[in-house]
Amino acid sequence: MNVALHQDTHVPRSAVDSGLLQLVQHGLGLKDKRLPSWLFYDAEGSALFEQICAQPEYYLTGCELALMDEYAAEIAERLGPDVRLVEYGSGSGRKTRLLLQHLQAPVAYVPVEISEASLWASVERLAAEFPQLAIQPLRADFTKPLRMPVAPRAARRTVIYFPGSTIGNFAAREAVELLRKMRKEMGEGGGILVGVDLKKDAAVIEAAYNDRAGVTAQFTLNMLARLNRELGTDFDLSAFAHRARYNPMAGRVETQLVSRREQRVRVGRLRIGFLAGEPIEVEYSCKYSLADFAALAAKAGLAVEQAWTDARHMFSVQHLVRANCAPA
Ligand code: AVI
Repeated sequence: MNVALHQDTHVPRSAVDSGLLQLVQHGLGLKDKRLPSWLFYDAEGSALFEQICAQPEYYLTGCELALMDEYAAEIAERLGPDVRLVEYGSGSGRKTRLLLQHLQAPVAYVPVEISEASLWASVERLAAEFPQLAIQPLRADFTKPLRMPVAPRAARRTVIYFPGSTIGNFAAREAVELLRKMRKEMGEGGGILVGVDLKKDAAVIEAAYNDRAGVTAQFTLNMLARLNRELGTDFDLSAFAHRARYNPMAGRVETQLVSRREQRVRVGRLRIGFLAGEPIEVEYSCKYSLADFAALAAKAGLAVEQAWTDARHMFSVQHLVRANCAPA
């Protein structure tokens, strides 16, 4: 038994009400301890993620930007005029900007983001650059069914933009579920434009998640710092280590926080025990071949209309549409 009750608790009410405490207690109470990767993204974590994107080893951002730079005009032509562009998550907006610059008469841009601060930051950035564009921010968790705002005029089609290979942070079954939800939301003639990181030399992938400057390690450890801030847990950050390894069988980077010693950590009324070397699984970053991803999309009733890749086959931007047959 590695969980014990502890009397002294200083958990903020909001953390109990939001279910955060229960979620963390549940994940750390499992035989194989696990916490969801969305816990990375508080304000601190989002800023660290922006820094990761600028690290030389983290090829994903540079490759996707280069692809958008080269193909945005062609992509926009494929998507056609009068598109309602719905973006899942809102990052720095650089890729979105490239797309919006080329879309012909977009009906509206709907960024969907759970963090109010990130949502408004992206709205402000794009509103200044595209004063004519109707921006309809939606504060929501994009993994849940969305209530889309009424478009200012009829759109020819809805296109869901999901860049960054964030789809890779969902295990295969969850990714299919999310794609199915997108399929429903985009409607009959709609589409999905998704950034997908590709399988490649394991050393290149591993280096991307173990940058020399240690920013990714800081990002991973920030999850525990966040829990200390928001839940009053007493994680000793120096007693955990970041570990990211590519699992070639599963085709994914598995990121863990590994306990450096035997220890107990207070989580609300519980005291959670850790063995020396025991990991908490915190993130999967799945990598796909073009064929793998087409098969995944097919399970969600989607077909790859076109995939744009770079000469070295590092990354892809893929346009998905409804397949003729209904999803399984
Ligand atoms: C957001 N997501 C696609 C990143 C990834 O590559 O899995 C998150 C990340 N984790 C560590 N480095 C970057």
